[in-house]
Amino acid sequence: MADFFTLRTVTWADGKVKMIDQTALPTRLSYVTYAAPDQVAAAIRTMVVRGAPAIGVAAAMGVALAARRSKAAKLPELMRDLEDAAAMLRSTRPTAVNLFWGIDRVMARARAATSVREAREAVAEEAQAMEEEDVAVNRKLGANGAELIRDGETVLTQCNAGALATVGYGTALGVVRAAVESGKLVKVLVPETRPALQGARLTAYELVRDRISCTLISDTAVGHMLSLGRVDRVIVGADRITRDGYVFNKIGTYQEAVLARRHGVPFHPAAPRSTFDLGRSHDQVTIEERGAEEVVKVRGRRIAPKGIPVANPAFDMTPPELVTSMITERGVLAPPFEETIPRLMS
Ligand code: MRU
Repeated sequence: MADFFTLRTVTWADGKVKMIDQTALPTRLSYVTYAAPDQVAAAIRTMVVRGAPAIGVAAAMGVALAARRSKAAKLPELMRDLEDAAAMLRSTRPTAVNLFWGIDRVMARARAATSVREAREAVAEEAQAMEEEDVAVNRKLGANGAELIRDGETVLTQCNAGALATVGYGTALGVVRAAVESGKLVKVLVPETRPALQGARLTAYELVRDRISCTLISDTAVGHMLSLGRVDRVIVGADRITRDGYVFNKIGTYQEAVLARRHGVPFHPAAPRSTFDLGRSHDQVTIEERGAEEVVKVRGRRIAPKGIPVANPAFDMTPPELVTSMITERGVLAPPFEETIPRLMS
């Protein structure tokens, strides 16, 4: 099964950034190639590329593009160009900490350089290293999580925490892939995930492509499926996990966690260390509010009357008391998370 979803979501190709255009899926698998950081910023904002680890790597590559394009002859000038690009990329989406982690990592390499040439090379090198690391980390995380899964289980997920949300392999879906690779039969229940439909469009696309058993459900069917005993485990991704153990992930995750607890079903976020934010507690995180268009329209077609007020929070927050354990590349974290998270990061 080594040929599971081998496409790379984001890759560095001949000094440019190449990525799958996720807005065209599932109908068309197409790629876009960018040579300028503002193009990468626009792609992150419009969700051509999305998913916490994927936008972290894409943003790092955006800084690398700025380094390539800069005409600076002296290091302070180059650093100003890079700071400008970094600020633009940081402003694209507020919730996933991986975005800031990716930018900070390449900026640290640039700051340590002693010449323009060295800084340019270091930033590109770091961004490419992050691309490679992402897949390796997800494979480790997947193997750790797969040990929790028993043969024949049905896993409920949310949104897309798969290969398309990372460079490759995925986090929550990485766990599923690793369990299937180890010979277990796993079924995935895929909520459509309104408003942007990452479940129906992206998770379903990946699983169908990999021939992993899956069933698409409407978001409103989640509670019913849990009440019927049709879910053995919930595994979701995360955009940020704060030092006090709160999990920020796609809107709809919190209701899955509450309902899972109600029905005695284990709930696990699966996330790499780059998603953990030791610098913040839950009350210091901004939940992105996206445009009304996503809610009043489905794939461009209006479904609600003009003038209707709309709220469109893109993420929600699950408190630690609803989390059974957290799956990471360094092992599975048990509660109390305010103790195990700092240990994970040390
Ligand atoms: O708005 P999106 O599609 O970027 O949201 C993605 C999610 O919420 C994912 O679950 C999360 O980024 C983890 S991806 C491994």
